[in-house]
Amino acid sequence: MSQQNESNKHIEISLEILKRFKKELKFDLYVQRSPGSFTKIFKTGDQLDWERVVSYLKKGISYFYCTEEEYQIYAQYVERLGEQLSNPNNKMTSKEAVKLLKELAQYTMHEMCMKMNVTERAVSNAGNVIAGCIDNLGKDPSSTMKIIQLMSMQPYIMKHSIMVSLLSVLLGKETGIESDTNLKIIGMGGFLHDVGVGQLDFDPEDERVLTPEQRKEVGRHPELGKQMLDGVKNLRTETLQIVLQHHEQPNGHGYPNGMRDAEIYPPAKIVAICDTFAAMVTKRTYRDAFSPAEAISRMRDNIGKFDKRVLETFAGIVIRNNT
Ligand SMILES: [Fe+2]
Ligand SMILES: [Fe+2]
Repeated sequence: MSQQNESNKHIEISLEILKRFKKELKFDLYVQRSPGSFTKIFKTGDQLDWERVVSYLKKGISYFYCTEEEYQIYAQYVERLGEQLSNPNNKMTSKEAVKLLKELAQYTMHEMCMKMNVTERAVSNAGNVIAGCIDNLGKDPSSTMKIIQLMSMQPYIMKHSIMVSLLSVLLGKETGIESDTNLKIIGMGGFLHDVGVGQLDFDPEDERVLTPEQRKEVGRHPELGKQMLDGVKNLRTETLQIVLQHHEQPNGHGYPNGMRDAEIYPPAKIVAICDTFAAMVTKRTYRDAFSPAEAISRMRDNIGKFDKRVLETFAGIVIRNNT
């Protein structure tokens, strides 16, 4: 019944997510017998027999895998679960929500590795920092649920936030920031930078063209975000500065305060670059995704909008050599 599969690459998936499969599986499920050797324990269409899963756990097997080809199917399921987070009746505890967030981060990491010039190792290091940020946030359960609900009201924001967070940690490291505390400040700032967008009474993603009033409202999101986070425990003031300043520009044309280069908190410049880049390489309701190289080229053309030196460091991380 079981079958060996040694040729494909396998990706670890979360037991917490697996628990939620109430219907038949949409992908094959494997356990690892020895390094590089995987055995299929359930196949597509099978009902997940939880008792059997538990029997593997008792034998000390605590990781389950799917193939790289089928990972997309699993990831779509995780994304759909993520969308349910916005429903206050979803009955998910903050602990479960934190697990789900981590799984969304995992999926975003795989996507990044495939698309960009980042090594799996660098991304997984950044992933560990983000996992630490999410855990830290989870220490204030009621605020966590409020933040997660706000961010998942608009599906684009949740995924975007995770991506900005991961990229910001990668870029922070590359610019020489080493301390775990400082990397977490940046990761957290990246994750929460757009939380104020969730407080608007419309989703900017739904609108092809914003009215002048809507544009004004959108311009308030850094301040709305900071205000809302002011009361959250375990958040550092530096993280709040990133949220407030992520749309400031060295040329002084940014918002909300039109700060000049030297006035802007340096980690906010890092997040600003990752924010624009993440938005550009993502397909939006009104345009296709840009390739990483095209996004960087357009950002380079925007003289004065970004810190030039940090932008060049970033280009070195994300553009694949062959593009
Ligand atoms: Fe923003
Ligand atoms: Fe953003």
